[in-house]
Amino acid sequence: MEDSIDLILQDHSSIFPTNKPHPIVSAGTGALLTGLYGVWSIFTLPGFRKIPWKLKVPYLPSCKDQTRNVMTLLEGRRGRLADLGSGDGRLVFAASSAGFQSTGFEINPILVAFARSKAFWRGVPASQVVFLKEDFWKTDLSSFNNVTAFLAPGVMELLGEKLLMELPDEARVITCRFPFPNWPQKISMGSGLNEVFAYDMRAVRSLLRSSPSTTCK
Ligand SMILES: C[S@@+](CC[C@H](N)C(=O)[O-])C[C@H]1O[C@@H](n2cnc3c(N)ncnc32)[C@H](O)[C@@H]1O
Repeated sequence: MEDSIDLILQDHSSIFPTNKPHPIVSAGTGALLTGLYGVWSIFTLPGFRKIPWKLKVPYLPSCKDQTRNVMTLLEGRRGRLADLGSGDGRLVFAASSAGFQSTGFEINPILVAFARSKAFWRGVPASQVVFLKEDFWKTDLSSFNNVTAFLAPGVMELLGEKLLMELPDEARVITCRFPFPNWPQKISMGSGLNEVFAYDMRAVRSLLRSSPSTTCK
C-alpha cells in the first residue's frame, strides 16, 4: 500500500512541477523590494529621528483638487503664509502664485532641497518663496496670518493648541483632509479625501470662549 502511495506521489511531482521559484528570481525580487524600501525611506524618514513618535507625519503629496480647494478658501486674502510640512512645495508654490509671501516648513532635508531646486528652476525669487528645514512644532508662527497644514489626524488636537497660543486673531488656518477635532466652527470645501477646512482664529477663539465644552484640553 505504502509503495503505491509513493508511486502516486512520484507521478504527481513529475506532472505538477513544484512552485519553488528559481533562486535568481527570489534574489532579484528581494533586491528590488529592498531598493524600493530604501528609496521610500530616503524621502519619508530623514530628519524624523528627533520628532516624538506620536507627532511623526509621513510624506504624502496633496493632489491638484486638494490644492485648488485650499486656494479657493484663501481667496481674497493676502500677506504671509506658512505651510506646515511643505513636502515638495506644491502648496507653497500655489500660494505664491496667488500673491502670498510663502514659507514652507519641512523636516525632511531631501524634500527641502527638492523644493528649493524647483524654486530655482522656476525663477521664483526668495522674497516670494522660502523653504526652511525646520521642525514647525519648535517654530513661533505668530508672524503668519495664513497657515496651511496637510498632516495626520493624530496631531490635529495638539496643532490646534499651538495655533491658538500663537496665531493673531486675523489669521486663517486651512487644514487638508483632517479637521481640528475640538474647534467649533468650520467652513469646508470639496469632499472625501480632498476636503479642506478653513478656520478664522477670531471666530474660533470667541466660539471656544462662549462654549467652553468644546475647548481644547
Ligand atoms: C502629508 S505631507 C504634506 C506635504 C505637502 N504639504 C503637500 O500638501 O503636498 C506632510 C509633510 O510634513 C512633513 N513634516 C512632518 N512633521 C514635520 C515637522 N515637525 N516639521 C516640519 N515638517 C514636518 C513631512 O516630512 C511631510 O513632508
